[in-house]
Amino acid sequence: MNTDSKIIVAIDGYSSTGKSTMAKWLASEVGYRYIDSGAMYRAVTLYALRGGIIGKDKALDMIRLVKELPSINIDFRRDDSGQLTILNGENVEREIRMMEVSSHVSIIAAVPEVRHRLVAMQRALGDEGGIVMDGRDIGTTVFPAASLKIFVTSSPEVRADRRYKELIEKGEKVTYEDVLANVIERDRIDETRKESPLRKADDALLIDNSFMTRDEQNSWLLTRFNEALQS
Ligand code: CDP
Repeated sequence: MNTDSKIIVAIDGYSSTGKSTMAKWLASEVGYRYIDSGAMYRAVTLYALRGGIIGKDKALDMIRLVKELPSINIDFRRDDSGQLTILNGENVEREIRMMEVSSHVSIIAAVPEVRHRLVAMQRALGDEGGIVMDGRDIGTTVFPAASLKIFVTSSPEVRADRRYKELIEKGEKVTYEDVLANVIERDRIDETRKESPLRKADDALLIDNSFMTRDEQNSWLLTRFNEALQS
């Protein structure tokens, strides 16, 4: 038993399953650092949209993207509102959550060069343990030896409903149908891409939270964390 050392917790799963909420809650509960790997893919997507590397028609200028990758720096900072994503020195936390970015992110995340760069950054961030990271490939590719791996799922309709309410609250003009279509399309691209497709690691614990309350989910997670710490 080694309860002194800090473990790595990998939380993967489908879009809008509440992975980030789970991961943030666990990190703050146990005093670990939380890293949102999706925010990094979103930041690269925002960079590409702003610079016209990816057009609104989804056409991608791969040569420019790969050429400009080394000059895309992503960092995280904290303030009273929580974690902020910093793209080349600018706080882009709000902008990367917008529908425009969600609609293009899976295309950017399928580019092997993007993945290689971001996976290297993610490994460097989690080097010493004491981290909860959420994403799509954390338990399979980024930290295949993580002590605790969770895979989160829930029905597309439940996920679209949650995301729709979030976006409306932020003042975005979207329809439920658009959000559902985006959830389904992102699942499809994430699951079928060649490089690190979204899949449950064999040793990941599965949780379907379609009908779980936040408290039930948190207590399930904390129990799994304590078990991982003891083993
Ligand atoms: O919060 P949500 O589930 O909508 O997505 P996210 O975690 O912000 O991730 C946005 C997108 O980034 C996903 O749809 C994936 O295409 C990509 N992603 C990835 O490929 N690998 C990761 N480790 C994290 C995100």
